[in-house]
Amino acid sequence: MSMQRSFIRGSGSYLPKRILTNADLSKMVDTSDEWIRERTGIQQRYIAADGELTSDLATGAAREALANAGIDASQVDLIVLATTTPDQTFPATATTVQDKLGIRQGAAFDVQAVCSGFLFALATADSMLRQNLFKTALVIGAETFTRILDWSDRSTCVLFGDGAGAVVLQTGTGAEDEGVIAHHVRTDGSKKDLLYVDGGVSSTGTIGHVRMQGNQVFRHAIANISSAVESVLTDTGYTIEDIDWFVPHQANQRILNGVAKRLGLDEEKVISTVAKHGNTSAASIPLALHTAVSDGRIKKGDLVLSEAMGGGFSWGASLFRL
Ligand code: ACO
Repeated sequence: MSMQRSFIRGSGSYLPKRILTNADLSKMVDTSDEWIRERTGIQQRYIAADGELTSDLATGAAREALANAGIDASQVDLIVLATTTPDQTFPATATTVQDKLGIRQGAAFDVQAVCSGFLFALATADSMLRQNLFKTALVIGAETFTRILDWSDRSTCVLFGDGAGAVVLQTGTGAEDEGVIAHHVRTDGSKKDLLYVDGGVSSTGTIGHVRMQGNQVFRHAIANISSAVESVLTDTGYTIEDIDWFVPHQANQRILNGVAKRLGLDEEKVISTVAKHGNTSAASIPLALHTAVSDGRIKKGDLVLSEAMGGGFSWGASLFRL
């Protein structure tokens, strides 16, 4: 049966020019290329230039996504931008992107779910398009995450990077196994002390820095991600064998491998960009998706499963056919 739903029409990404390697980091803190690669799979990350803002990265990714979709910015009537590192406390970075793209219609707002932000943004935009509130959406994940790192804390500063990714979502009619199919998003505020920023507007009046109990986060990540994926599969009647590509949040290679093993997923179907990008928080899923679309691995019609877990805790999974 044909019904109103949303479709991903194109994707794009944007990375700053500067690369920070593990060797560079080993000159800044007591760490080594060997330790970082072994524990995380990360080899390098990108760092935004002075004066380069989250909205600049987001606008770059959005422009490329629109070009790849063959859709003009004037058609966009919704922007949902996931970020933990907005340009300013307000206005929402999404509205700055709206202005930079010359869009004078519709609505734009930010979503904050840390590393799970892109999936929360996708679920939000998809719901609004299905309800016919808007027709063409930009869903963006963008971060200058390195600006909230404590560069003297080796247990966190080696993990993260900056970047942005975007998809264009548009309404259309199709069968229930076409376009964006299903989402599962969850949070548990009781675990916030395991991963948080030690500052904020109403608490300290400062930006603060990332603090994390890495081994605890690791344990919860594998369990929560696996349960989100299982929920999406149960809800839709698909099995793990039906999935063509798995596009996970790029936290670290050991989490990617752990989840793939627990779900019985063929590792060749797992898109991994963590070696080159590090963990770019809300940007990591659209960055990985666009990488695999650009290099020809993910093709039109492929069934894609995505998942994420981050501060909050927040976690989720989404299923879509490209
Ligand atoms: N270089 C060298 N040694 C280090 C470094 C470093 N960069 N960081 C920590 N160590 C040391 C610790 O001090 C500790 O030393 P000690 O034994 O003398 O006390 C030792 O390494 C082991 O520390 P652990 O924290 O137990 O190391 P672990 O094996 O858990 O690896 C890591 C740490 C990589 C952070 C891991 O816990 C992890 O991947 N956790 C998931 C966290 C994550 O990805 N968070 C991102 C945000 S949430 C998300 O996106 C899912």
